[in-house]
Amino acid sequence: MTNKITSLADYLQKYKESVADPEGFWANIAESHYWRKKWDQVLDWRFEGKDAPHVKWFINGKLNITENIFERNMFMRKDQVALIWEPNDPKEKEVRLTYGELFDKVKQFANGLLKIGVKKGDRVAIYLPMIPELPVAMLACARIGAIHSIVFAGFSASSLADRIIDASSNVVITTDGAYRGAKSIPLKSVVDEALKTCPTVKNTIVFKHTGEEINFDARHDIWWHDLIKGVSTENTAEEMDAEDILFILYTSGSTGKPKGVVHTIGGYMVFAEYTFKNVFQYDDGDIFWCTADIGWVTGHTYIVYGPLLTGATSVMFEGVPTWPDAGRFWDVVDKYKVSQFYTAPTAIRALVGHGDEWVTKHDLSSIKVLGTVGEPINEEAWRWYHDIVGKGTRPIVDTWWQTETGGIMITPLAGIIPTKPSYATLPLPGIQPILVDQEGNELKGNSVQGILCIKFPWPGMIRTTYGDHKRCYETYFSLYKGLYLTGDGAKRDEEGYYRISGRIDDVINVSGHRIGTAEVEDAINQHPRVNESAVVGYPHPIKGSGIYAYVICDELSDEERDGIEDQIRETVSKYIGPIAKPDLIQIVSGLPKTRSGKIMRRILRKIGEGDATNLGDTSTLLDPGIVEEIISGAKVEVKR
Ligand code: WTA
Repeated sequence: MTNKITSLADYLQKYKESVADPEGFWANIAESHYWRKKWDQVLDWRFEGKDAPHVKWFINGKLNITENIFERNMFMRKDQVALIWEPNDPKEKEVRLTYGELFDKVKQFANGLLKIGVKKGDRVAIYLPMIPELPVAMLACARIGAIHSIVFAGFSASSLADRIIDASSNVVITTDGAYRGAKSIPLKSVVDEALKTCPTVKNTIVFKHTGEEINFDARHDIWWHDLIKGVSTENTAEEMDAEDILFILYTSGSTGKPKGVVHTIGGYMVFAEYTFKNVFQYDDGDIFWCTADIGWVTGHTYIVYGPLLTGATSVMFEGVPTWPDAGRFWDVVDKYKVSQFYTAPTAIRALVGHGDEWVTKHDLSSIKVLGTVGEPINEEAWRWYHDIVGKGTRPIVDTWWQTETGGIMITPLAGIIPTKPSYATLPLPGIQPILVDQEGNELKGNSVQGILCIKFPWPGMIRTTYGDHKRCYETYFSLYKGLYLTGDGAKRDEEGYYRISGRIDDVINVSGHRIGTAEVEDAINQHPRVNESAVVGYPHPIKGSGIYAYVICDELSDEERDGIEDQIRETVSKYIGPIAKPDLIQIVSGLPKTRSGKIMRRILRKIGEGDATNLGDTSTLLDPGIVEEIISGAKVEVKR
């Protein structure tokens, strides 16, 4: 396979070249793709100044990403399996789709979308569980030049509505229901609820999955099977510009509502394929399994686009790691002889607790590479993964990246860059990280700790936040001029290896999902008896960080007090989704505020960490006594 790094010396050489001549480096990689018309210029960029950030790759290049997945691979791979779908229920049969079969499904559904009037540039909201129709729907959008906006199917009606409204989507694609372990979730009714506030939506396409009863309104609801009935599988891809939008994916930040991260076609395509084949060292014939949900960026890039562009076989899994039992992951690895297995530290920590026998009783000899993503992996979990799952011999790639980066940025290359527990190690070729101090001064040399920024554009980077370009600048480029701000802290050790320490802003990484504290507070405050709240992260043995909410309520009767915590959790679930439910709720009479009314989260964070020995200066607080009250009533044990 072309563009594959083969040794440490090769990596070091490529890295050097990529910094000396980034345009030449990426142009050379992009040459292996199929362009209807080649670009005139590789890169134009500024992180400061007029319309910043202004980042354009492969300018005036014309292409369609699905031609790079299908037409480009068809000659060799028509009968090779592209997707293996493992259903929630292990008793049900899996689905295997070859490149040829997947292509036909994509073209047919693309024609179905055209039939109901979906056009190039339209935003299509996709609210689907992990079933093969999800990649089919995404790729059908890309085929006709529509922009997909996938919303994780665990989000609530209100979160779905926010995303539909922000992108002014005109079509929503969903199912009747979704399975999750032993439970089933009525997705269509969530969509119905959301659409009460979404006037732009003309049609809802419903795939029949669970067969449950739904509310079907023939004026705008269309069954998926009716849409494609008798529809041709012939379709010519729409010609797109390299900088046309491929997708929008919403993500939480420290302030306000989630923002729509925008990725464009050419650069994302080149970056997804390059990172996939190099990080995981994918070889022809390997079976790749990323356990993420396609509703998050990891699933976009490493279940769908990266593997399929490469011509790989990609596994997608509908279920959960602990159902019907804690051996499910390893069952699936064994069943399909998975070669590369990519998951989140939170899943590893959850499985550690169930005991080694769930792993050791399966044959995992097919595994060549293990990967993690989404949050820092603690050394204990890393060792278990390495020793028990990887039999002490398989390399672990601890991959650091973000929704905004489009693909993996800092990581070992499997079997090439020596690993070290909890270290994401070195940047990929083409990626130029730097660490800065609070004032933005570059921390040069090794053995330093600071804020992680990136100083040069890469093809997969965010172009804008949908509908609000200024917000993109404010969020990522305004704090340290000329740098992309990641929001993460990191250390560079004596060998130049990076270790990511976690978020430095008000984003909590709960089980690898980004949750903005402001969003959770807004949701809690919707409860009629709540006056004010403050939310922080605290160390959680499985989730990495849990959510700790300090809440001020109206005067409550004893009876009301009993039920209030559950009600608050339900409120959050309703406004955001179950993933954002606070783990700990403490009802307080006040919050530690400065005289100017600012909540001192630092103090609340310290209390959540169980350490009140060094709270710093509390003399500027309006009411210093409140700290004592909070410590005595804390939901965790606090050292004084
Ligand atoms: C965190 C997920 C430590 C980090 C791809 C980042 C990590 C946020 C790692 C992005 C890692 C991701 N080690 N932390 N290997 N990977 N993170 O947008 O805080 O859902 O900023 O993208 O996850 O989360 P997002």
